[in-house]
Amino acid sequence: MIDIEFVRSRFIKHFDGKTGNVYTSPGRINLIGEHTDYNGGFVFPGAVDKGITAEIRANGTEDTVMAYAIDLKDRVDFKLSDPAGPKASWARYIYGIAKEFQKLGVDVKGFNIAFAGDVPLGAGMSSSAAMESCFACGLNDIFGENKVSPWDMVLAGQATEHNYCGVNCGIMDQFASVFGKSGCLMRLDCRSREFEYFPFKPDGYRLVLLDSVVKHQLAGSPYNDRRNSCENVVKHIQAKHPEGKFETLRDCTWEQLEEVKEEVGAEDYSRAKFVLGEKDRVLAVCDALNEGDYEKVGEMMYKTHEGLSKDYEVSCEELDFLNEIAKENEVTGSRIMGGGFGGCTINLVRNDLYNKFIADAKKRFNEKYGHEPKVYDVVIGDGSRRLC
Ligand code: GLA
Repeated sequence: MIDIEFVRSRFIKHFDGKTGNVYTSPGRINLIGEHTDYNGGFVFPGAVDKGITAEIRANGTEDTVMAYAIDLKDRVDFKLSDPAGPKASWARYIYGIAKEFQKLGVDVKGFNIAFAGDVPLGAGMSSSAAMESCFACGLNDIFGENKVSPWDMVLAGQATEHNYCGVNCGIMDQFASVFGKSGCLMRLDCRSREFEYFPFKPDGYRLVLLDSVVKHQLAGSPYNDRRNSCENVVKHIQAKHPEGKFETLRDCTWEQLEEVKEEVGAEDYSRAKFVLGEKDRVLAVCDALNEGDYEKVGEMMYKTHEGLSKDYEVSCEELDFLNEIAKENEVTGSRIMGGGFGGCTINLVRNDLYNKFIADAKKRFNEKYGHEPKVYDVVIGDGSRRLC
């Protein structure tokens, strides 16, 4: 986590010398359940020990926000009443959360904010959700008397992505960032929003992320395209079964998918097939975790990778290569994590194989792509909170 004093020193320097309150929110991992959140399915995320830390202070103006991105050394000032909002992509997360909070009835006024992060950007660990929930946590405390519920903070983060950043994401990332708990993964039913904490201490194994350093970028069409494909299949199934209620792929069976196979076309069919399979895999992983069967968990992870790569088509050469190296090193489980199109693989690896696997992955990746993958050991941390 970023040192509070580091953020504070920049906050003091860039504004009027006064201090504010400091908040932090984490990025996330996801053990399994990818692209299932916007399909009403299950996900299995946990917060990490890396995130975004922000210092915030009301500045006494009606609606002027003065914002400083410490890592980028970029300063942007904007007015909340400006309907277009700021142009800088990082500042749009601040603007978006403030606007969504205003919609919730929070009387957000002008404020100063400086923030920094240690969650890698574009690595599929949800640095954007970490920003959203950090800013939400702060604005809730400063302007909302902490009356905005954790779920409304999650939804404000998601609405920020939808309304100001062009990504029609689900709720997994913001959920994990707000609700995370040290040492626990969470199984969330994205339809009912019920969730359970699962203490995760796999005896003899560890989780490690290998970052391909291919920047994943969800804004723009590919992520939203996947979502559209899923929604299209649901529409066709609904039309065939007017008596039923089909909101997402969660409500659809394998048989119903087969019925519309021809009419939806090969691409949408494959994508929906992945989602139905993934729904079953998350449940299988829950059972396996309850039985302490990590080999089964790993098997499901490999299946997910294959589906994300071949059917959902959100992998890339580098991630497939990392997955291949994991397989050859007899790593228990390995797959793309997060939205895809770059970023990390998540690997469940036996302690005795860890060093050999990491060394081999670094060497072979470097030989092929001219740089090593970055290695992040997963430490499951707490969700959004005020630090001081
Ligand atoms: C991104 C989105 C999430 C989720 C994942 C894929 O991280 O923000 O809502 O859809 O991709 O599982």
